[in-house]
Amino acid sequence: MKVLVTGGCGFAGSHVCEHYKKNGAKVYAYDNLTKFELRRTGYSTEKARFHNLDYLKSIGVEIIKEDIRDAKTLESYAKKSDFLIHTAAQPAMTISWEDPELDFTTNVVGTFNVLECARKFRIPTVSCATIHIYGNKIKDEVKEGKTRYIRRPVEIDENHPLVEGMLTPLHASKHAADLYFKTYIDTYKLPIASFRLTGLYGSRQFGGEDHGWVANFAIRSVMGYPLTIFGTGKQARDILHVSDLVRSFDAFYKTQKAGVYNIGGGKQTLISLIECIHMIEDILGKKSEIKYQPSRMGDLVYFACDTTKAKKRLRWSAKVMPRQGIEELVDWVQKNTSLFEIKNG
Ligand SMILES: NC(=O)c1ccc[n+]([C@@H]2O[C@H](COP(=O)([O-])OP(=O)(O)OC[C@H]3O[C@@H](n4cnc5c(N)ncnc54)[C@H](O)[C@@H]3O)[C@@H](O)[C@H]2O)c1
Repeated sequence: MKVLVTGGCGFAGSHVCEHYKKNGAKVYAYDNLTKFELRRTGYSTEKARFHNLDYLKSIGVEIIKEDIRDAKTLESYAKKSDFLIHTAAQPAMTISWEDPELDFTTNVVGTFNVLECARKFRIPTVSCATIHIYGNKIKDEVKEGKTRYIRRPVEIDENHPLVEGMLTPLHASKHAADLYFKTYIDTYKLPIASFRLTGLYGSRQFGGEDHGWVANFAIRSVMGYPLTIFGTGKQARDILHVSDLVRSFDAFYKTQKAGVYNIGGGKQTLISLIECIHMIEDILGKKSEIKYQPSRMGDLVYFACDTTKAKKRLRWSAKVMPRQGIEELVDWVQKNTSLFEIKNG
């Protein structure tokens, strides 16, 4: 079996590559190795950029340093593949409003190129959308509890209206990509899926203030750096451990039931920012310094996936609970502190 993973050297992609390599597949990590987002974390960009890449090389994953926006090159690798997993993206809302062209070309044009590979070669393909495409009007549906925002019903399914509320370029680009997947399913009857992913976390995640908040809090807490919360800290998500994400891709490959799916932990993994910080403090046995700033444009205050559709059609559900997954993440950070040193404080 040959597996092509776009964004294979990123956080989610590296775990997908590892999984298929360890299961005997020939795996290609197709990644342009951008340093754009990493540069904003404050950690050493070079060390961060090569950590995942060196690991993948050491286990025999083939690295292809190319861009998903280059349709011809992407096709030349895709046509040899049995399964295409599309994780490459511009994933951050902040970057999307600072550089809308990067956001558009990566998330819309890049995903369109992936879809064209799926159409031309009829390759089973799964793409990473995000729950942000539901929009942030969900804030009108929540109440403020003691440590988190609360909504009834707790979980939200795929029939909830999309892109409501105040939009940023990331909403538009990720929504367009998700819509194109649905369109290609309807029009061409392809074995493909768009996964609307909740907040992900796990090892090899270089979380910063732009993207990857669980890892951001874990890294900064281990390193003793102050944490910044934008807004009240009661924003809540049904966080998903990366091993459950990898299982969801594999569940799609095995069933090949085309569609759009919410992929998250559901009510059992729901946690707020402040609850997550308290859990990390408990694991580490030390308090973190927290700074508050006003909430950011486009922020989604609440989401918990109703994953009934994925359970029924893909026979998948999340298994890893936040305490177990966050302990593992903290352990990875503690073993790799040299990756997170910040020059000039
Ligand atoms: N991490 C989360 O919490 C989260 C939540 C919801 C959805 N998602 C989605 O999941 C996917 C994976 O996220 P991640 O956290 O692993 O991101 P990541 O930033 O860690 O990895 C993305 C990878 O894509 C590569 N890439 C970017 N532009 C590229 C291009 N033009 N050509 C080739 N490679 C390119 C980057 O170099 C990087 O290695 C993204 O689509 C993201 O929007 C992530």
